[in-house]
Amino acid sequence: MTDILNHIDQGVMTLTFNRLDKKNSITSAMYATLADALEQAQNDSAVRVVLIQGHETIFSAGNDIADFLNAPPAGENSPVFRFLRNIASFPKPIMAAVAGPAVGIGTTLLFHCDFVYARDNAAFSMPFVNLGLCPEAASSLLVPQMMGYHRAAEALLMGDPFMAEAALEVGLVNRVLPPTEVNSYAQAQARKLVAKPISSLVETKRLMKAGQAEHIKAQMAQEGASFGRMLREPAAREAFGAFMEKRRPDFSNIH
Ligand code: COA
Repeated sequence: MTDILNHIDQGVMTLTFNRLDKKNSITSAMYATLADALEQAQNDSAVRVVLIQGHETIFSAGNDIADFLNAPPAGENSPVFRFLRNIASFPKPIMAAVAGPAVGIGTTLLFHCDFVYARDNAAFSMPFVNLGLCPEAASSLLVPQMMGYHRAAEALLMGDPFMAEAALEVGLVNRVLPPTEVNSYAQAQARKLVAKPISSLVETKRLMKAGQAEHIKAQMAQEGASFGRMLREPAAREAFGAFMEKRRPDFSNIH
């Protein structure tokens, strides 16, 4: 079974997380597939919009912790960093339909989408601190910018989850939808975009993002260096070990 489904229909490339037994957590192989799909979508004139979606019960549990433990990303060309660079610089419209939990990169990738639609059960969280890590995907820049510093501190220092309505209020989500409607609503919105001139969409997106593009790239590189180092340090080893052993982590002896 393919862990990322890639379906192109009438100008829309739909990428679906399809690893429900592991709560759609993302392995390096999946990051590589996503990075390749975005390159394909960028170069293929038959694709005008990309839509990322998960299952109705879960969007994604974030990085696959076992995979990260066994094979931490090595260097900036590792699949996770390639995916992040590709989504951050993706020139055409990109949309996400979120239902259920969106953990870690499941939430931070949304800051690089142009439109985010959420089912009313969507729960967003960025628990990097609780895992002995630091933010990625330029979220240390984009979260305070979007939410304001104090709400960002709740999300990034406390790692507190927030629900669809709160995400709507801070502007992370465009619209909250009742059960079963989120994917179909996103598809309908994507089709509206397909009917518009692609050159205008691409240029408008480029202009909206131009002021920050370099800043985002630099922040991502800085975060990537810290994240890669912290993955190998005792706090992350303890947090990941605790997750695998289904126990609470104990950071009391880690300085
Ligand atoms: N990496 C690897 N495996 C994961 C995973 C992850 N991020 N998230 C869930 N899984 C696996 C579990 O280990 C479990 O596997 P098993 O059946 O072989 O024991 C399976 O998916 C089901 O997970 P479970 O925790 O029992 O599901 P749940 O419905 O009770 O909870 C979540 C769902 C998403 C709330 C919970 O799994 C979770 O918090 N996951 C970790 C999220 C996280 O910290 N991500 C990393 C961000 S960097």
